[in-house]
Amino acid sequence: MRFNGTMRVNGKNHLEIGGVDTVFLAREFGTPLYVVDEACFRDNCRRYREAFAGGEVIYAGKTMLVKAVCRLVEEEGLSLDVASGGELACAISAGFPASRLYFHGNNKTPAEIRMGLESGVGRFMVDNLYELGLLSQAAARTGVRQGIILRVTPGIEAHTHEYIKTGQIDSKFGLPIETGQAMEGVEKALVSPNLVLKGIHCHIGSQVFELESFEHTVRIMMNFLAQVHRSTGHLLEELDLGGGLGIYYAEGDLPPAVSGLAGVITATVGEAAVSRNLPVPRVLVEPGRSIGGPSGTTLYTVGAVKVIPGVRTYVDVDGGMNDNPRTALYGARYEALLANRAGEAAGDVVAVAGNCCESGDMLIHEARLPAPRPGDILAISATGAYNFSMSMNYNRFPRPAMVLVNEGRADLILRRETYEDVLDHDVIPPRLRIREALRKAAR
Ligand code: LLP
Repeated sequence: MRFNGTMRVNGKNHLEIGGVDTVFLAREFGTPLYVVDEACFRDNCRRYREAFAGGEVIYAGKTMLVKAVCRLVEEEGLSLDVASGGELACAISAGFPASRLYFHGNNKTPAEIRMGLESGVGRFMVDNLYELGLLSQAAARTGVRQGIILRVTPGIEAHTHEYIKTGQIDSKFGLPIETGQAMEGVEKALVSPNLVLKGIHCHIGSQVFELESFEHTVRIMMNFLAQVHRSTGHLLEELDLGGGLGIYYAEGDLPPAVSGLAGVITATVGEAAVSRNLPVPRVLVEPGRSIGGPSGTTLYTVGAVKVIPGVRTYVDVDGGMNDNPRTALYGARYEALLANRAGEAAGDVVAVAGNCCESGDMLIHEARLPAPRPGDILAISATGAYNFSMSMNYNRFPRPAMVLVNEGRADLILRRETYEDVLDHDVIPPRLRIREALRKAAR
């Protein structure tokens, strides 16, 4: 397993993160456990801030958002992208400054629109003409002049998994440039008295390694800015290029550095502005995975180890697709080690299986581990993005806790769900209770 952030092997031969022994963490907080390396998260934020010094860095909250993470993002001077009423509620209740919130979502409900307006979010990221109409009316009713950015689809096919590419014309997100719908959106926004069109946005996909995809996107977006200027006379100031930079999960992954991404974007925006005779727009980026991903590690306890001679060894752990659905959903690859025997040389290839009633509930199809035994603590790295945020309760398993580790301290930032939490929303309607009572009485 490749080490991220502050990971190291300590004198006890245990994996340590943020100066805290992970075997201690597993004992203290239980497993499965999400561990967030604060220094790594902060470093990743800073790397972006430095690389995009003249622009704005907006952490994509969908990656991993709990209130404590909102605090880290705030302290590091990043803005925050929220993509639902729930993420907005999280940010607001953590005290995140509303003016630095960017409100995404392809189908914001009237209630969410009201919530965004009333909380004073900095920008609505308007996805479609229907939303534009709803927002324009709601802003007029509320008497607000709302800053918006229009999401467009540049028609880029990023090389990534089908489900996580979003920039192509056939996408549920954004208004296509090619069909003229993006321009229609611009024109409508410009005549709406309660909306202030600040710029345009696109997001081509996630876990993208090719910088050429971003370069190409910038050119298309800059062409569109020029087109807007020509046909409406308006110079839009903000160019939001979304997120998407890939990270290392397993052997073979070769992600470019943040500085490389920034270099390509800044240079291409600059050149394109000169050649199209436009002022240089302010560049906004919305990284998620490349900030949160490497900072997260999940700890599990090994239970049954089933050897099927000549076929495969299954190492069962106490979590699975419920805390990390990415392997099941996208065929994602991960690396692992045994945290309580972290220095031991990796042995044979085994399969790490989850505990849900589903054959597809696998965490790692091929992991090289030193003969796992029941009770071992298995650590999977790079789980800080789209794990907790996509977690679920299949089989009514409670969801894991999350701890933030730094300089030898471990703080709980998400309480482990209990069975009471899981059952808390169940309602037995009175008529079913009556039947039960009658049945009892008849016995
Ligand atoms: N901005 C927008 C508008 C987005 O839709 C996304 C991700 C981001 C920014 C952040 O992108 P990132 O830097 O994380 O690539 N669940 C999938 C990923 C879905 C990405 C959704 N949008 C996965 O687990 O791979």
